[in-house]
Amino acid sequence: MEEKRPEWSSHISFIIATVGSAVGLGNIWRFPYIMGKNGGAIFLFTYLLLIAFICIIPLCCELGLGKIYKKDAINTFKTINPKYKWLGWLCIITVTLIPCFYFVVGGWILNYIWVFITGQLPDNFSLYFSSFSAQAFMPCFLTILFLIMTAIFPFRGINDGIEKANNLMMPLFAVMLFILAIFALTLPGAKEGLAFMFHPDFSRFDKTMVLTALGQALFTLSIGMGTILTYGSYMKENTKIVKSAYTLIICDTTIAILAGIMIFPIVFSFGVEPSAGAALAFISMPQMFSQFPLGVIFGLIFFALLFFASITSGISMMETTVAAFIDNFKLSRKKSTLLATVIIGLISIPASLSFGILSNFKIFDKTIFDLLDYSTSNIFLPFNTLLICLIAGWCIPNFWKKVFGESFFGGVFNILLKFIVPFVLICVLISGIY
Ligand code: PHE
Repeated sequence: MEEKRPEWSSHISFIIATVGSAVGLGNIWRFPYIMGKNGGAIFLFTYLLLIAFICIIPLCCELGLGKIYKKDAINTFKTINPKYKWLGWLCIITVTLIPCFYFVVGGWILNYIWVFITGQLPDNFSLYFSSFSAQAFMPCFLTILFLIMTAIFPFRGINDGIEKANNLMMPLFAVMLFILAIFALTLPGAKEGLAFMFHPDFSRFDKTMVLTALGQALFTLSIGMGTILTYGSYMKENTKIVKSAYTLIICDTTIAILAGIMIFPIVFSFGVEPSAGAALAFISMPQMFSQFPLGVIFGLIFFALLFFASITSGISMMETTVAAFIDNFKLSRKKSTLLATVIIGLISIPASLSFGILSNFKIFDKTIFDLLDYSTSNIFLPFNTLLICLIAGWCIPNFWKKVFGESFFGGVFNILLKFIVPFVLICVLISGIY
């Protein structure tokens, strides 16, 4: 059954929804720890340059493709040229694989929310986390619960589901982030934390750091899998692409920096290694929250923050898949959502089990969870983004004029699109594979 293509009810809803997609675990969980591992301030500056001059291009391309063609990812590329339909499929495969590991983390977040609500905090979060994530039943159950909570919104549609969820959750998210950042700034380690973030150590500048920064930038902006394209396809006719793209980048980056301002003062106040890695959010942070009287409340706010960030991103991932199923299998929205839920559920269970009974099952020396994370972020994202830029730059006549405008800046953006961004992406891909 064909359904009429929906539209965002206002420009601001469109911006909130794209910010909701972009702001996720990538900002709150991944960005601070990657920054911690890559030398702090020098990473931040490189990241800012890359995001402002390189990532802006594919972001505008996806928004432009969505706005011009008003279709899901697969049909967009098919309309440009039937030969390119497979790129649409590649985007859909990527965006369907990401929630399969992302929602496992969503399940952990649900568990930690419960732990902080009941106030029954373990003494040692390191032991607690490894024994909890290795269990078979509970993490799988919570992953599926998180999946169902997310699926409700695409199931209900753009205006009644996705828009409402974002309009409610994103402001709550912003308030909580402010509260935690202000609290962190009152701690004794605030000065050291801020110095770590904003005082560059140039000796840490190297190729790997640049490539890591670019990979992170693509992931956090949800580029390279048709998500921004799909959200762009519901855009109103008079929405300005470059302006929307910069608004999105500014919001996403501000939130990532605020997340750092929240995390590093806490980290330095409690003497934790800033490069503790993925464990920062699930071991170091809760351990610190458990050490002071009001910590339970701040811990709860921290995990609620992670919850809102991850569910609004999860919604956008599922919507990309659902939109593709609606348009290509001619299914209703409800049936498409059910189909997407079943597929993601089936793959996310082994991903969750890869911390326990499947921990020795490895492909290319990686567990299922790590393989999903690594292949999507380091290979599929840059690869898809590269092809999207090449197609937009070289195969659609006058695409740059429609998207960037014919001004001097439009011309500069066109050169970036045709030559510079593809070159940079090829470098990332080669380094990602080796
Ligand atoms: N941008 C999201 C984050 O930072 C992740 C994401 C990837 C969202 C793909 C949508 C699609 O966590």
